Amino acid sequence: MIEIKDLHFKYHSQKEEVLNGINLNIKKGEFVSIIGPSGCGKSTLCLTLNGIIPKTITGEFSGDVFIDGISTREKEVSEFSKKVGMILQNPESQLFAMTVEEELAFGPENLAVPRDEIEERISWALSIVNMENKRDEFPGNLSGGQKQRIAIAASLTMMPEVLVLDEPTSQLDPVGKREVFRVLRDLHKNEKMTIVLVEHKTEPIAELSDRVVVMDKGKVVLEGTPRHVFEKVPILRELGIMVPDISYLTYLLKEGGYVKDIALTIEEGRRLFI
Ligand SMILES: Nc1ncnc2c1ncn2[C@@H]1O[C@H](COP(=O)(O)OP(=O)(O)OP(=O)(O)O)[C@@H](O)[C@H]1O
Ligand SMILES: [Mg+2]
Repeated sequence: MIEIKDLHFKYHSQKEEVLNGINLNIKKGEFVSIIGPSGCGKSTLCLTLNGIIPKTITGEFSGDVFIDGISTREKEVSEFSKKVGMILQNPESQLFAMTVEEELAFGPENLAVPRDEIEERISWALSIVNMENKRDEFPGNLSGGQKQRIAIAASLTMMPEVLVLDEPTSQLDPVGKREVFRVLRDLHKNEKMTIVLVEHKTEPIAELSDRVVVMDKGKVVLEGTPRHVFEKVPILRELGIMVPDISYLTYLLKEGGYVKDIALTIEEGRRLFI
C-alpha cells in the first residue's frame, strides 16, 4: 500500500536532514505504529505520506514514496488526500462546520459525490466512531475525544485507503484516549483499514499494532512485531522510549531470573505468575 524508498528530506531552514534514508513498506490492512524521540522526524515522515512534502512544504527531497504504486512526486496532494486520510494532534484545528453532519459532508461534497451516497457514508462513518446521536450537534460542544472521533469520521467519509494519525490522543484525557484507540481497533479489525499511527504511549501500541517502527535521527533503527520491539528494553530506554509498564517490570524480573518471558499486556503478565 505504501512503499518508501531511500527517502531523504531536509527543510530549507534546517542544516541537517530530518529524514535520513528511510526504507519502509506498509501492507494493505496493516496497523503500523511509529515511535521515537521528539524531533526524530515522525511528523515529517507523516507529511510525506500524502504528498504535502514535497508538494506543499518544499525542501531538499530525494528518494520516493509510492502510495498504491503511484509516486507522490507524480500527482497533486488532492489526489493523495483521497487515498490517505490525515488526523493531527489537535482536533479543534480540524473542525470548522456548524454541525457534525456538515463536517462529515464537506469532503465528499467537494468530490461531487451524489447526495444519497454522501448520506450513506455519513451514517457509516458515524456508526464506526459510535456517534450516531451527535449528527446535529455543534462540534464545538463536544468533548476532546468526541471531537477527535468526528475528525476521524470526517476523514472516513472520503473513503481513504490509509489513515495516518499523528499523536491523535496527546491532547485528550484518559477517557478520550480510550475512545479513540477503540475506534482505531475497530477500523483495523472490522474495516481492514491500513493504519499508520504515531504515538508516545506504548501500551495501546503493544495491544493494537501489527508492527512497530522505531525512528531515531531520521532513520528507522528497529522494527518488528510489538514483541520483537518491546523486548529490547535497554535500547528503547536509551532512546528515551518508555516501554509498557508491564514489559519493563517483567523485563527486570526476567533479568533477575524470576520469570521466563517479557509480557506485553497485563493479561500476559498475569499468566507469567500462575
Ligand atoms: N516546517 C518545518 N520547518 C523547518 N523545520 C521543521 C519543520 N517541521 C519540523 N522541523 C524540524 O524537523 C525536525 C523533526 O521534526 P518532526 O516534527 O518531524 O519530529 P517528531 O519526531 O514529530 O517530534 P515530536 O515527537 O516532538 O512530535 C525537528 O528538528 C524540527 O524542528
Ligand atoms: Mg511530531
